[in-house]
Amino acid sequence: MNEASQQNFAFSITTPIYYVNDLPHIGSAYTTMAADVLARFHRLRGEKVLLMTGTDEHGQKIQRIADELGRSPQLHCDQIVAGFQSLWHALNIHYDCFVRTTSPRHEAIVKEFFQRVWNRGDIYLGQQQGWYCVSCEEFKDERELLAEKRCPLHPNKVVEWRDEQNYFFRLSQYQLPLLTFYENHPEFIQPSYRRNEVIRFVRQGLQDFSVSRINLDWGFPIPNDPTHTIYVWFDALLNYITGSVASDQEPTIHHALNYGWPISLHLIGKDILRFHTVYWPAMLMSADMPLPGQIFVHGFLTKDGQKMSKSLGNTIDPVALVGRYGSDAIRYYFLKEIEFGKDGDFSESRFINILNADLANDLGNLLNRTIKMAIKYCDRRVPDFSPSRISDQHPLYSIAVNLGDQVSQAYTRLAFSQACESILTLIRAGNKYVDEQAPWSLYKQGEITKLYEVLYSVLESVRLAGYLLAPIIPTVSNAIYQQLGFKIDLNASASNLTTESQELPDFSIHGSWGVLRAGDELGEPYSVFPRLSDLTPIDSNPETGSIQ
Ligand code: MSP
Repeated sequence: MNEASQQNFAFSITTPIYYVNDLPHIGSAYTTMAADVLARFHRLRGEKVLLMTGTDEHGQKIQRIADELGRSPQLHCDQIVAGFQSLWHALNIHYDCFVRTTSPRHEAIVKEFFQRVWNRGDIYLGQQQGWYCVSCEEFKDERELLAEKRCPLHPNKVVEWRDEQNYFFRLSQYQLPLLTFYENHPEFIQPSYRRNEVIRFVRQGLQDFSVSRINLDWGFPIPNDPTHTIYVWFDALLNYITGSVASDQEPTIHHALNYGWPISLHLIGKDILRFHTVYWPAMLMSADMPLPGQIFVHGFLTKDGQKMSKSLGNTIDPVALVGRYGSDAIRYYFLKEIEFGKDGDFSESRFINILNADLANDLGNLLNRTIKMAIKYCDRRVPDFSPSRISDQHPLYSIAVNLGDQVSQAYTRLAFSQACESILTLIRAGNKYVDEQAPWSLYKQGEITKLYEVLYSVLESVRLAGYLLAPIIPTVSNAIYQQLGFKIDLNASASNLTTESQELPDFSIHGSWGVLRAGDELGEPYSVFPRLSDLTPIDSNPETGSIQ
């Protein structure tokens, strides 16, 4: 029987923990932005949310890089971790918990978990022979290798032959329990084509995998045999349990179950699919713990249609990108332009075009010109129009009336680009409506009632669009709300655990039509998203933008 767990959080989400062999690259930023968007969306719905991220600091890969740089591994990790945390800050990511696998709290969880699996009889000593990719930290099947024994995921790296005594985890025992679990929980692996891929793989039969290494100091020792260290992936996956313990509680599995475990959603990239959908659930079954709710697998980013890599010199440096364009621009491009789940491309000229078209022109100009008219014609106030008088056929209302539901469903399905497209439909209709109605002419002709209806319905549409986009572009959305006269900070979706949580405007009200109140004073107009000019493309920076 599973130990019972209490659900403290309506929604909890994790990113993978990132290797600290190098500074963060755009791939790590991609997952983390998506996780932050979802966390913000759920907070807007008034839910208690837990968002965790962190760093994967043990293993041969990290030890080697530290050796090459002539630093102690711990010092190396500390330096790189600071780079991750400052990028998350620059990208406006509000996480509730940051797990470092070198922390004593994590060590306590790893030891306890290992002991559980050991007591279950699922660990035994055996001989490991095979080809190891240090960059993946994984043994590879000989048939999947490229010419000259190169790793398919790291074609510039050759795999290394290993023949050593290791402790093994009896993964083979879990083939049937896993298949039954996938069968009974069709939502567990998403998108469904990834689920099918995993089921095909598991049906072929599972091999036990080694969970210890010898001749490697940089890791936790195996409790009963300190000549071995725990395999970095076994150690890393357990970060999700460490992060599920409240920060003021002793790090134990019991406390994880009383607080954050099981997690609702793990976000991962497609290269770490098997670890999360096969190894991880089997480890949890062995430790008699409940399984996470869902694993959502996203695709890979390319640059100008090419795979990014240090050797090609075409990586994207997220620090330079955010420094040049700001966090909202980057969050918007990656979430709107790439269907989450599929591979997607970054090109700087496309980036500039999309942002100028959607945020500077369509959204920004609509707000700007309408507010200026409201200042001129309505004494700087929300026009005197009652939203309940709007007709069902009104061109903006007819789109807006179901928009909150549609967008909410899209966020729930992680269909971020669909959420953006639906919101853009309303914004574009708003621009067309202003052009057609020509409020300046209505004013001249003295058609004041109609003028107020037009201006109200456009301002209310921009408000609704801004609110619904807030998880993705919180700074722009907040600027829209300020200009519409709200005194709420839409960007204050800071952790609802660590800081005094500020009341956020609730989705059930602000996600619907008719929130602006006639007569309320409007704020100062300014451009919420200045046009981007064609700048010299950001050079890839091999120091900071590597894709490993
Ligand atoms: N440390 C492991 C994860 C352990 S989780 C218990 C790891 N780290 S990583 O830093 O190499 O990769 C972290 C995430 O970044 C993975 O989800 C990976 O898919 C993602 N990406 C790495 N390169 C990427 C792209 N080019 N595009 C999109 N995501 C990519 O794996």
